[in-house]
Amino acid sequence: MSVGVVVLAAGKGTRMKTGKAKVLHEACGLTLLEWALRSSAAADPDETSVVVGYQGTEVAAALPDGAVSVVQEPQNGTGHAAQVGLTGFTQAHETVVVLPGDMPLLHPDTIASLVASHTESDAAATILTVDLDDPFGYGRVVAEGESVTAIVEQRDATPEQRTISEVNTSVYVFDGALLADGLERIGTDNDQGEQYLTDVIAVLVGDGHMVRSFGADHEEGLGVNSQGQLAEAASLLRGRINTDLMESGVWMLDPTRVYIDASVDVASGTEIYPDTYLTGRTRIETGACIGPSVQINDSTIGEGARVLNAVLNGATVGTQAMVGPFAYLRPGAVLAAGAKAGAYVEIKNSEIGEGSKVPHLSYIGDTTIGRDTNVGAATVTVNYDGYAKHRTTIGDRVKIGSDTMLIAPVTIGDDASTGAGSVITHDVPEGALGVERNLQQNIPDYAEKRRRRADGEAD
Ligand code: UD1
Ligand code: CA
Repeated sequence: MSVGVVVLAAGKGTRMKTGKAKVLHEACGLTLLEWALRSSAAADPDETSVVVGYQGTEVAAALPDGAVSVVQEPQNGTGHAAQVGLTGFTQAHETVVVLPGDMPLLHPDTIASLVASHTESDAAATILTVDLDDPFGYGRVVAEGESVTAIVEQRDATPEQRTISEVNTSVYVFDGALLADGLERIGTDNDQGEQYLTDVIAVLVGDGHMVRSFGADHEEGLGVNSQGQLAEAASLLRGRINTDLMESGVWMLDPTRVYIDASVDVASGTEIYPDTYLTGRTRIETGACIGPSVQINDSTIGEGARVLNAVLNGATVGTQAMVGPFAYLRPGAVLAAGAKAGAYVEIKNSEIGEGSKVPHLSYIGDTTIGRDTNVGAATVTVNYDGYAKHRTTIGDRVKIGSDTMLIAPVTIGDDASTGAGSVITHDVPEGALGVERNLQQNIPDYAEKRRRRADGEAD
C-alpha cells in the first residue's frame, strides 16, 4: 500500500497577530508544522506534500528533507488546498492522509491507529473526530449508525445539526483515487463560496461508498488559532514530555515548572528542580542534578554533574563537574570531569581540565587550562586587545593568585603560580612564581595624623 500525506498549511493565522505564518510558531522547541510532520510520519508515508500559501517561501524553507511544498494561490478553501496538495506527489497513492498544520497535540499513535482502522475497513474515507462539550465553530459529523453521511460546517448547519457534539478534526484518511475524483466534483455552494474538503464526504456517500469516523481524545483535536491556544497546546505538550521523562525514571520536584523541548535528551536517574529550561540539542546524562533556575541550550551535561542557577549555551560539562550558582557558560566552554565553574564565573571558548576549578568571580575566555589547577577569585583572562582575540594557556597544578590579569597571548607553565593582584604580561615558566606588584609601603600612625590634620593641628 502506498501512502501520501497532505499537510494543509496555507492559512495565515490572522488571529496569532504576529505577522508570521501560523505553522511557524513554536511549541516546546518545534514549529507547529514540525509537530504535524512528526505525527503524520506514523502513517509511514512514501511522500509528504505540504500546502503553503501565506509566507510560503519561509514555510517551504523550514521543511525537512523528504517533504515537498506546493503553493496554493489563492487560498480557496480546504478542498482546493487538498487538490493542490495532491499535485505535489510524483505518483498516485492508494491511501492519502490529510491533516492540518496547526494541530500539534495529534499523537503519532492516533495517526497509526486511524490509518490501520481505515485499511482494515471497507471505507472510502475515515474521519478523525472528537466529541466536544462546546462544538461551536466546528464541522459537525452527521451519521446514520456506523456510517457518516456528511460534514456540515457551523455556518451552513441547521439548528438540529448544531446540537451534534461529534466534530471533524480536519484529519482524514482517504482512498487516494476516490479523493482525487471527489475533489473534481465539489462546488463552492456554501456560505464562504469556498471549496470545502468536507464536501468530498457527501460526494463519496452519494456514490454509495462507506465513510467512517474514528474517535480521538478531545485534547488531540485542539487546534492553534491564537496565542492563548498556542500557550495551552505548549503546556499540554510539555506535560506529555515531562510525564514520559518521569515514567523513564527522571525525578522532578515540580513538573509544572520544568520546560523541556522535544529535542532534548534526559537520561534516567536525573534530578530536575523548578524553573529549569532545557532547549535545543541538549543532553543530560544520568545522575546529573539540574536547577533550580537553570537555562541550558545546545549543551551536554555529564553523569552526576551539578548545575544550579546558571545559563549555559553551547557548553559541555563533564562527569561530576559543578556549575554555579550564578555561572554563565558560553559556546565552546568545556569542563572536564570534576571541574568547577562557581559563583559569578563566565567561561567562553575554553577548556577547563580535569579537577580544575574556577570557583569565584572570574572571566575565562579563549583559554586552555590543564588538570588540577586552581584559578583564584576575580581572575580575568584579558583576551581582547581591541582588535583581536588571543589565547591564554595554563598548565597542570597551577595556582593562579586572586585578581590576576592574564594579558593574552600568555602561557603559564605546569606547577607555576601567579601572585595575587598581578598583571601578567609575560609567560611564567614551569614551577615559577610570576608576580607583578609594587613594593608595599606602610605609613605608620596614618589615622592619627589624619585626625590631627582635620582638627587643624600642625603635624
Ligand atoms: C475546518 C473544517 C471543519 C473542521 C475544522 C477543524 C472545512 C471546510 N472545515 O474548518 O469541518 O471542524 O477545520 O479545525 O474543511 N487551509 C489551506 N488553504 C485554504 C484553507 C485552509 O491550506 O484555502 C488550511 C489552513 O491553513 C488550516 C486548515 O486548512 O491549517 C483548516 O482550515 P481552516 O480555515 O482553519 O478550517 P476551519 O474553517 O477551521
Ligand atoms: Ca481551524
